[in-house]
Amino acid sequence: MTAVMANQKIKIGLVGFGTVGVGVCKILQEQATLLANRSGAEFEVVKVAMRDTTKKRDIELPAGAATTDWQEVVNHPEVELVIELMGGTGIAFDVVSAALKAGKPVITGNKALLAERGEEVFALSAENNTPIYFEASVAGGIPIIKTIREAFVGNNVANLAGIINGTCNYILERMTEAGLSYDVALKEAMDLGYAEADPTLDINGWDAGHKAILLGAMSYGFLPAPQDTYVTGIENVKLEDITLADKLGYAIKLISVVKPASEQTVEIRTQASFVPKSHLLAKVDGVFNAVALSGDAVGDSFIYGRGAGEGPTATAVVADLIDAVKNLGTANKGFLPYDTSYSVAPIDDTETAYFISIDVQDEPGVMAKITSLFSDRGISFSGTHSHLDPNAPDAAMNHVSFITHVAKYGVLKAALADLADLDCVTSEPTLYRVESF
Ligand code: NAP
Ligand code: HSE
Repeated sequence: MTAVMANQKIKIGLVGFGTVGVGVCKILQEQATLLANRSGAEFEVVKVAMRDTTKKRDIELPAGAATTDWQEVVNHPEVELVIELMGGTGIAFDVVSAALKAGKPVITGNKALLAERGEEVFALSAENNTPIYFEASVAGGIPIIKTIREAFVGNNVANLAGIINGTCNYILERMTEAGLSYDVALKEAMDLGYAEADPTLDINGWDAGHKAILLGAMSYGFLPAPQDTYVTGIENVKLEDITLADKLGYAIKLISVVKPASEQTVEIRTQASFVPKSHLLAKVDGVFNAVALSGDAVGDSFIYGRGAGEGPTATAVVADLIDAVKNLGTANKGFLPYDTSYSVAPIDDTETAYFISIDVQDEPGVMAKITSLFSDRGISFSGTHSHLDPNAPDAAMNHVSFITHVAKYGVLKAALADLADLDCVTSEPTLYRVESF
């Protein structure tokens, strides 16, 4: 029998007892001995807030622990640490600020709160010398925050690109591999506990967008303003785009990019992009997330794991819990912004290659009109594609796609606006960035 080597007993309050909250309690119960032997601490969950205390959960709480009032958790005299796992930016902000004001360290997985209201939250953390930990807020079970803050602490981040939303990655895979409709794939992701309570945040790219903001903060020390970053989602990704991308040697993935754009500006953008199939990111499927990160000393690294769901996310929360315990009673050892000289680079100044596809009327000169419109703006094509039926070479060409050389997004946008005005163009252009990492 394993001896229990604990010299500290820590009492915790938990606000939110859904997918992740339940997962945290399971690890604390099931791995109590392992945690005690590895960290020297034993944990007791004293009070847990949820909306409906009568709902059946996967785990039993001690009698009297459940409440519907988060204030009972935060204000409980025995609670030393508060874990916020309810989500949202309203009441969750009240929970986190009340805990920080009471000098109780906070552990959260709430990327929306930190990205949207980080300025207020980190100011409270500094004023009250009380840390806030948030490993679970980015990429579920992947220790990406720790990697940047600790493992790569002596590195400037030269480039970071990742798949950091499990729901979108899962949906894209299920649509392609299992031929599911978008709605059915989303329902699966929700049933598996991957999606946000409001899944529009996953689909419209903002969940990953929030995480990209936090990765920007970790990498460059400033708090990027959400409105300065660029975010689009997977709502307009069509099965035919995925099929054509595959034929051309690419996978379509929701990619977040965080990298220096100039000496004091950082490119922060999230969108569905073409990723070369030869790159590791193209091979990340299902709920898995991955971050490709280059540090100036360490060089290229790649970190991969499950990005959402009960066990992976709870793993990150429990890891933060151990850090919080180690730092109890010391100066604030959580993250605080440290460099206000950075800002987000305007999206129009960012550069990649692009995939563009449009419906056209088959008439003499159509290709010349299109190509000259781009070449007038200094954009040239590295490839073109149109479907040709070998048995019907004289059939109408009504769809054409191109891949451009690298160009500034602002210039590309202007060319696309002119393209839409051409009489021979009969559809809105489909646009994807073609990433090279
Ligand atoms: P969830 O399953 O929807 O759980 C939310 C919990 O909060 C529920 O227990 C709910 O109570 C409780 N709650 C909501 N409003 C409340 C209120 N006003 N007072 C008290 N309790 C309240 O969400 P989740 O998936 O566990 O996610 C929790 C947080 O972790 C979110 O910030 C999310 O973004 C983040 N996160 C989630 C994942 C994931 O894979 N799911 C991964 C990383 C980060 P009831 O159960 O009674 O409704
Ligand atoms: N909804 C999020 C996702 C949860 O699918 O990635 C993990 O942050």
